[in-house]
Amino acid sequence: MSYIAYEHVYKAFGSQVICEGISLNIEKGESFCIIGPSGTGKTVTIKMLIGLIQPDAGEITFDDIRLSTLKRDEDFLPIRKRIAMVFQGAALFDSMTVFDNVAYGLAKLNLSEGELKDRVEERLTWVGLEEAIHKMPAELSGGMKKRVGLARAIAPDPEVVLYDEPTAGLDPINTVRVVELILNLQERLKSTAITVTHDIPAARRICSRAAFINEGHIQALGPIQELMHHSDHFVRTFLNSNPLVNDILD
Ligand SMILES: Nc1ncnc2c1ncn2[C@@H]1O[C@H](COP(=O)(O)OP(=O)(O)OP(=O)(O)O)[C@@H](O)[C@H]1O
Ligand SMILES: [Mg+2]
Repeated sequence: MSYIAYEHVYKAFGSQVICEGISLNIEKGESFCIIGPSGTGKTVTIKMLIGLIQPDAGEITFDDIRLSTLKRDEDFLPIRKRIAMVFQGAALFDSMTVFDNVAYGLAKLNLSEGELKDRVEERLTWVGLEEAIHKMPAELSGGMKKRVGLARAIAPDPEVVLYDEPTAGLDPINTVRVVELILNLQERLKSTAITVTHDIPAARRICSRAAFINEGHIQALGPIQELMHHSDHFVRTFLNSNPLVNDILD
């Protein structure tokens, strides 16, 4: 059994079918991307891995734990300790300082006050924001908030990090910065990464393999270079729609 496995996962909201039998295997240490048009269920697909959304049918397995056996929200807490999600918006707590935002996920680790401070400072240094430690989220730019969200997610040393559109809305310099950061973090933490994006140059840099999701199905799966030459016209066009930017990041 793969480290992360989706088997025939089905999800609908009312009459709107989002996942129509998604099957997917991701191995430990892999950097995997989920690509696809807006509104096709990419966020829903990764939220199901941490129990924020429940599938209607099928099974998701993480490290041999069958998620369908977890019935209550608190049953997912051990999973959420091991799998962190960087949300599409930065989702910071606006009334807390940057320090407290990053320290938030560390509360259950029983660190001493000194260890806690060191860890928060270390992770903010990794994302290049050590000078913002005492600021409030309202004082930060969008790119800075995204990086604080990243620092918060990776503070407890998660085994798996789910990045939802990590580069959306960022300027080109911050985009490159976040992409390099994701690669660095994976190397440092030896973690598994699932990145949802429609930023193809970023996906090419970050991931080894990608799934192209469209209309509830996995339309294509494989190394991104292969997907760029896929036999399906829509997949090919989607992935090659910005050739100038692709050239820069080659
Ligand atoms: N909790 C929910 N309740 C009802 N509908 C939902 C819920 N979450 C998502 N949806 C719907 O499911 C569909 C897929 O949403 P999702 O957020 O997964 O898309 P996405 O592929 O991540 O899109 P984007 O690229 O714009 O972020 C959308 O039509 C959305 O409105
Ligand atoms: Mg989304």
